[in-house]
Amino acid sequence: MTKLKIGICGWGNVATGLYEQLVGGEEIYANWDICCIGARRDNPKCNPGSTKILRDIFKVAEEDIDVLVELIGGVETAKELITLALNSGKHVVTANKAVIFEHGEELINLAKKNNVKLLFESAVCAGTPSIKMLSNDLTANKISKVAGMLNGTTNFILSSMEEGASYEAVLKEAQEKGYAEPDPSLDVNGTDAAHKIGILAALAFNSGLPASNFHIEGIENIQSEDFTYANEFHLTVKHLAVAKLNDHGIELRSHPVMLSKDSSLAGLKGVRNGIQFDTDLLGEFHVAGSGAGRESTASGLISDLYALSNSGESNPMQYPDFSKKPNLVKFEDLIFKYYVYLEVKDEPGVLALISKIFAGQGIGFDKVIQKDQLDNGNVPVVIFTDPILEKDMQIALQGLKNHPEILNSKIIRIEDL
Ligand code: HSE
Repeated sequence: MTKLKIGICGWGNVATGLYEQLVGGEEIYANWDICCIGARRDNPKCNPGSTKILRDIFKVAEEDIDVLVELIGGVETAKELITLALNSGKHVVTANKAVIFEHGEELINLAKKNNVKLLFESAVCAGTPSIKMLSNDLTANKISKVAGMLNGTTNFILSSMEEGASYEAVLKEAQEKGYAEPDPSLDVNGTDAAHKIGILAALAFNSGLPASNFHIEGIENIQSEDFTYANEFHLTVKHLAVAKLNDHGIELRSHPVMLSKDSSLAGLKGVRNGIQFDTDLLGEFHVAGSGAGRESTASGLISDLYALSNSGESNPMQYPDFSKKPNLVKFEDLIFKYYVYLEVKDEPGVLALISKIFAGQGIGFDKVIQKDQLDNGNVPVVIFTDPILEKDMQIALQGLKNHPEILNSKIIRIEDL
């Protein structure tokens, strides 16, 4: 293992987590030096000892370092910093999925041009292996599908809600534990998982990174009763991101789903992430582990530093072929089974009205449950549908909105993994 001179940029939860692991005295890191830290301000939670501190994070790229570890987050400033480092002949390790999703092609091309490496293992699932494994270890396989719970915060929230906790309280706890993004709306609105599945899709299908105009939906509307109704049919609610090859192109999406409780992903609780790869040689292949937080992210960052330290001139990962632009299938043309939750006025004829609207779009019901009156006097109606085109479901939902007897509607797609 060669000597590695490291500059860390950022001094928040993830950066201090990395620092603490690196100075923890493990033999494996004895040959590595943390030369400087780019920190705009001190962090009372971590004492950097005598390590040189630079208040101008861009100055880190000018120091005598081999690798800059970018942990400032965000997109445009991070891109500028990575660009400067690569142009200064430094390798870059980053945990920043947003910057890789938005600018990965340009940054990787810049790394190649400058004959340095850009590694981003902890951008997806934090330390749980996915990026280098996909790029290296699965290389002999043709991958037809990647389906993952890729956001630790949302899995922490959903699995706690399933146990009875409130959304708001658990989101706060996820922030306190350092799982959530500085702007947690990126976690709960599905964007963070979308960035991650976009990166995995490029690696799995050896294509360019997709644009962000695919279906992205968060968990903000999931409520405790959704778990109750799901449970009646041995299902649970998770946030899933899917990249799948079909006859027309790549299906890409990030949204809540109901999953069978028997599926391997359904059993993952708390901050755990999990990915199922469908492959030709290995068949169905799974990874699962902690997907957020300082320790898990430090594990992924150190795996990149270790790979850099050991790889000499060669690159420890294969980059995808960005010249192949991904052809995304339209979301409205996909077929799902749906859970439909409606809150309706307790009046005769409402069920007949709902049936008529759904039948008009050819939507068949698998199960229908009408529950007792709510405190407000309205009645919940829960429907599990047969498989139907997304666009037909959207027309039916629109049709429901035209009737004052139907007060609220919500759908969750049911995923067969
Ligand atoms: N906020 C992210 C998550 C951190 O909860 O998964 C790891 O990428």
